[in-house]
Amino acid sequence: MNFERKQFPLLYVNQHSRGVVGWGASKTAGQECQRYGIKHALLVTTGLKGTGIVDEVEGILRHAGLEVTIFDGVTSNPKDHEVVAGTKMYLEAGCDGVVSVGGGSAHDAGKAIRIMVTNDGAKTDLRDFMAVLDPHFTTRIPTYKVVNIPHVAVNTTTGTGADCTSFAIINDEDWKYKLILIVPGVDPSVGINDPALMRCQPPHVVAWTGMDAFCHAIEPFVGRLNLPIAHATGLRAIKLVSENVRQAYANPKNDTAIENLLWAQFMASMSYNMGGGMGMVHGLAHMVSVLKDLHHGHANALMLLPVERFNSIACPERFKEIGEAMGLDVRHLTPIQATDRTLEEMERLRNDVGIPAVSLRELNFSEADIEHTAKWASNDISMEANPRDMSKDQIRAIMRGCL
Ligand SMILES: [Fe+2]
Repeated sequence: MNFERKQFPLLYVNQHSRGVVGWGASKTAGQECQRYGIKHALLVTTGLKGTGIVDEVEGILRHAGLEVTIFDGVTSNPKDHEVVAGTKMYLEAGCDGVVSVGGGSAHDAGKAIRIMVTNDGAKTDLRDFMAVLDPHFTTRIPTYKVVNIPHVAVNTTTGTGADCTSFAIINDEDWKYKLILIVPGVDPSVGINDPALMRCQPPHVVAWTGMDAFCHAIEPFVGRLNLPIAHATGLRAIKLVSENVRQAYANPKNDTAIENLLWAQFMASMSYNMGGGMGMVHGLAHMVSVLKDLHHGHANALMLLPVERFNSIACPERFKEIGEAMGLDVRHLTPIQATDRTLEEMERLRNDVGIPAVSLRELNFSEADIEHTAKWASNDISMEANPRDMSKDQIRAIMRGCL
């Protein structure tokens, strides 16, 4: 019997949110709100200053007859107290739905606000909905109230996928841990992906979010849950990121490259959201982000190589396929030889988009931070799909190797 199959005899294939995709898609935001019965939207955003996007979406919603209250208090790595503030604003203004405008931070904050409104409002303890391995999150989900507040997610970055997924990731500022919130119904009603908004990203955001999408494709592809759907979407997304992220980083107004990255991030998010799961690139990057407030995609880009070097002996044949999708001619190499070439190519891609290897020491990552990471990451659900178990000592070794 196949070892991987024996480990997970049943695979659960999840729904992905509806999507509206293409040039001008953002102009449908008003009618999408009408479709789900939203009359007064809480517009949740980081502000996207300098782009004019928030003003534009607000105008589209008002033109469709909606009342709009703007909550622009979300920051990168959205924090628990920001979600509380957004929840209070939602309830005080009498909103009946959420429109998130931005990247993953805005969408995840919008999802978490909907969880709080569904439960005890601003008094809700988000830790009650935290998904971890022990106690296993699936045992707690049946006790949760289903979230049925409509949510229209207008996406502006080519990385997150959070506009269509069933998770919200929120910083617990006291614990210094990213809560992974999985609650039935939390996925947005619809994700709107308009390349006309995505071409407003600055180059460094193209790089960070592009590497996030790359990790979303890689992790389920090599992962232990072994979902065939994720193999298909992941390989195509890897190819699209490899062929387009450099051009989009060099010139975010390159419409073809941005449109291809849009589809890469969309398919990559299907890989993990539909049941392929995530891995320990995300598991460890979450800890770096929460401890040092580093952008999610930037942290993933830094943890990609150390984690996949560790993982690669579990599934070198998968890394050979990744190399082929990245355009390498590895046909005549053994899987182990091909894996070396693939990891080199990943490093080159990361460097080409302006993300050199950075010592975590430069981020003041201390021995206490390593211990904190080992404690929390070892119970992270990202471990479940990772192709190789990672003990606390192995987590410490990987993190020390990044100093
Ligand atoms: Fe991610």
